[in-house]
Amino acid sequence: MDFNNPLFRFLIHQTLPTYKRNLFMLLQNKIALVTGATSGIGESIAILFAAQGAKVVVSGRNHEKGNSVVKKIKEAGGTATFLAAEMSDSLQCKQLIEETVKIYGRLDIACNNAGLVEPLAPVADYPEENWEKVISANLNGVFYCLKYQLKVMLQHGGPCSIINMSSVLGQTGEKGLSSYIASKHGVNGLTKSAALENATNGIRINAVGPAYVETPILAVLPEETRKVLGSAQPMERLGQPEEIAELVLWLASDKSSFVTGSYYAIDGGYLAR
Ligand SMILES: NC(=O)c1ccc[n+]([C@@H]2O[C@H](COP(=O)([O-])OP(=O)(O)OC[C@H]3O[C@@H](n4cnc5c(N)ncnc54)[C@H](O)[C@@H]3O)[C@@H](O)[C@H]2O)c1
Repeated sequence: MDFNNPLFRFLIHQTLPTYKRNLFMLLQNKIALVTGATSGIGESIAILFAAQGAKVVVSGRNHEKGNSVVKKIKEAGGTATFLAAEMSDSLQCKQLIEETVKIYGRLDIACNNAGLVEPLAPVADYPEENWEKVISANLNGVFYCLKYQLKVMLQHGGPCSIINMSSVLGQTGEKGLSSYIASKHGVNGLTKSAALENATNGIRINAVGPAYVETPILAVLPEETRKVLGSAQPMERLGQPEEIAELVLWLASDKSSFVTGSYYAIDGGYLAR
């Protein structure tokens, strides 16, 4: 029987009393933080983590959207809190993690998912403020979060799991997207380095690299590009945020206990070409 099959999990949720249902949950009693969880992939991850028994801190910048994700989780019987944080600000990242520990007592799982893209431009014309904005949020933000997450995880010990959201563009190049591509290549390097430092500390750290997924982030691309994105992928469709969340759940859970320092493509065949 496949306990991870979404239909099976739904039936368990609908039919079993809480104490029996918990036996099948992958993140029972875990405390999880998801950044960029007010929309898209992060929202799906937060909802899936909560459905699997984790108490979840939903982080983002937009209070209204964050509270609406928390409401969805609570209505489904889960536990969640919204905490606002701007990823390019190291103090806010530090406070986010400190506040998480204040509320829930520890931190077992973190998904550093927040990220953004700025409008396309060739390197020769790339606005420096756009470069700084992307690197600050996508790379510095992951570093700040990792740094303070590791501090608290090292204090209470593992098993802990950190998942950094990269991209297929963390492995390849693409015209016009230099800042995003540099930031995601940076995330992959940072993931490897932090994973090696903590391989014997009970803290696993991995990166996940989706190809194009149907979320609000794609709105920054020109309409003509957006129209053909799905059909240009080997599976001839865009990924769905829920599909990415399933891989992140596996990496967050003890099912992936021998996995660290890795980059996991989830790209409908994008990198196989
Ligand atoms: N959608 C895709 O095609 C795709 C592909 C590969 C990787 N990704 C990555 O997945 C992650 C999630 O993106 P998404 O597709 O769900 O898009 P999204 O726009 O729906 O989500 C991005 C989230 O990050 C938050 N965020 C952005 N900048 C921030 C900042 N400076 N401080 C705090 N929060 C900030 C946004 O508010 C939002 O909640 C990103 O890291 C993105 O690079 C997305």
